[in-house]
This record gives sequence, C-alpha cells and structure tokens, in this order.
Amino acid sequence: MKVTDYSTIAARYDDNPVRHYIPRDEYIERHYTARRPIFCVLDLACGTGNYLAKQISEYRNHSISWIGIDKSPEMLSVAKKKGISAELLIGDACDVPLDGSSVDYVSVRFAFHHFQDKQKAVAELARVIRPGGGVRVFNLAHEYMRSSWIYRYFPGAEPIDRDRFVDGITMFKWFTGHGFNVELDVHTVIRQFVYDDIIKEVENRDMSQLNLITETEYRDGLSKMRADAEHTDGLLGDIAFMDLYARKIG
Ligand SMILES: C[S@@+](CC[C@H](N)C(=O)[O-])C[C@H]1O[C@@H](n2cnc3c(N)ncnc32)[C@H](O)[C@@H]1O
Repeated sequence: MKVTDYSTIAARYDDNPVRHYIPRDEYIERHYTARRPIFCVLDLACGTGNYLAKQISEYRNHSISWIGIDKSPEMLSVAKKKGISAELLIGDACDVPLDGSSVDYVSVRFAFHHFQDKQKAVAELARVIRPGGGVRVFNLAHEYMRSSWIYRYFPGAEPIDRDRFVDGITMFKWFTGHGFNVELDVHTVIRQFVYDDIIKEVENRDMSQLNLITETEYRDGLSKMRADAEHTDGLLGDIAFMDLYARKIG
C-alpha cells in the first residue's frame, strides 16, 4: 500500500475549504454522560485539529476531556498553533498510545485508508474504548465512486485507492468481530461539480491521491481539467461517503 507523506502537505492542508466543512458530531451527545468523572473523546488521525476545534466549540458546556492523535508531527504542529484545548499526541492508529478502556468515544475522519495494518487499528479501537463507548469512522466509500472526477482525470489514483480503501462489508465484519454493534451507511451524492472549485482543490494538492500519483499524471490531469473548463462550467459526477458507527458491547 502506498503511504502519503503528510510532512509535505501539512502547510497547505487547511487552505482547502472542504477541510473546514465539519458538522456538530451528534454521536458525542449520544454517548455523553455527565455521571462519569471524565468523559473522553479521541480524534484518531486528527490531522490539523479541525474536527476537535469544531466539537470543542459545539460542546463547550459539557465536561469533556479531548485528545487528538496523529502520526504526522507536521500536521500536529499545525493543530497545536490553533490553541485547541485538547491533548495532542504523536501516535499510530495501529499502536495507540493510550491505556485500555480509557476513551468513551472516538472519531476517525478521512483517515482509515491510511492505516497500514487496518485490522490492528480496529483491534486498538476495541482495546481503548470503554464497554458501552463508541466509534465513528467517516471516509470516502471508494467502491461506490464510479463517476468520480478524481479517477476520471487522474486514473492512476484508482488502483492506488482500491488498494487502500476497505469496503463496507469488510469493515462491518471487522468491527463486529471485535465486539462492536455496527451501523453502516453509505451516502452517494451525484451532482454537477464546478470546474473552478475542483481545479482549486487540485492545485492545492492536499488530497492524498494527488500526492501518490506521478508528477506527469498530476500535470496531465490538471491540464485536461483546465482545457475542459474552457468550454463548460461543470462536470456531472459522484462522490460517496461511508459512515460507520460502532458501539462496544458491554
Ligand atoms: C486526510 S488527513 C485527515 C485529517 C483529519 N482527520 C481531517 O479530517 O481533517 C489523514 C491524516 O491521517 C494521519 N495518519 C495517517 N496514518 C496514520 C496512522 N497510522 N496513525 C495515525 N494517524 C495517521 C495523517 O498524518 C493525516 O493527518
């Protein structure tokens, strides 16, 4: 599996507006209980801390201890500059630097495909989450994206993603196998993608796909997009999201 080097992406990651579209995570409310002396939320592979910043603001009236863990010191350094009131730790999802049964709720956003030993990461989630606690894994659903602009303009990214992303049925089985009750939704959006927007995204090059293909593939795809944008505003395409929620039995 190809591994993305976030040290070269961290400085421009937040320049993509898409990185800031983060809704209130209602699953925190679902799990929150003021009876516990410390209710702990972990953002695993927290990157530049955007999810934490948003949820800390949304849940400012709750008594919650927040932790962010990421493998990339450069991504974490961007998060630290935001002054987020969370403990930010360097760590690997496949070897989480936390005690067993120490966390009530975990969020993993747009990151699961990066984990090198994915079954080990699920085992680690099962270890650190308290009985009754939960985890939400939100990610692209690669197998449902047959008309994605990414693969249309950068076809070399498709086999790379096929190798990195885990399909929903497998994810469901892995979490069930580790003692979770699982709910899994796939949400497909079909719409007209505006060239001006997606070209800006491609130029910012914060998406891992665009860092794992060759320079020639990147330049060719971007040139084709710019050429197509000359005679039409948008492109009909799809994007799909996997939303897995798992509650640890007990
Ligand atoms: C696309 S970014 C997502 C960041 C953040 N969750 C967000 O939604 O903006 C993927 C992140 O996963 C981190 N990452 C990759 N492999 C990891 C691993 N094995 N353990 C922890 N973090 C990892 C990267 O450093 C990067 O910050």
